[in-house]
Amino acid sequence: MPKLSVYFIRAALLHLGIGFTLGALLLANKGIPFAGWIWRLLGLHIEFLIFGWMVQLAMGVAFFALPRHTDYSRRYGDVRLGWLSFILLNSGVWLTALARWFGTNDFAFGGRIILLLAAAAFAILIKPRVKAFGVHQ
Ligand code: HEM
Repeated sequence: MPKLSVYFIRAALLHLGIGFTLGALLLANKGIPFAGWIWRLLGLHIEFLIFGWMVQLAMGVAFFALPRHTDYSRRYGDVRLGWLSFILLNSGVWLTALARWFGTNDFAFGGRIILLLAAAAFAILIKPRVKAFGVHQ
């Protein structure tokens, strides 16, 4: 498996662990309310599980599973774009999550823009590899 996929999948699993833990805290607090501030974790829970876990896992798997280029030296495409997208995605997730915790909408918006840039970088990298089975060009 390419190194970038390993990093994407490890980071996704990390976010799964944190996101589920926050979900468990939210759930426990619904059953037996023990701290009002726990509700502020809802934004982090959503951010970590939707973008940090699900989107990130899909990107990591797509990077190794989609058809590769025939030129062996660049069979995955321009990997630098992939690393850029990895860094942007994780920065965007954490910036948005922290902004939700602190209730700062401007930073949350900034986080979303960074996520959009991560998606754009990944789309440019991966689009040439999205082909039907048996199509070689
Ligand atoms: C991939 C897995 C998950 C995703 C994508 C996810 C996503 C979400 C989203 C989007 C919300 C907001 C719903 C709304 O505002 O209407 C939410 C709320 C919540 N989630 Fe999760 N969640 C996941 C797993 C879990 C798990 C494993 C737990 C518990 C162990 C959990 C506990 C909660 C709780 C307690 C709420 C608040 C519900 C309420 O508003 O009363 N979630 N989750």
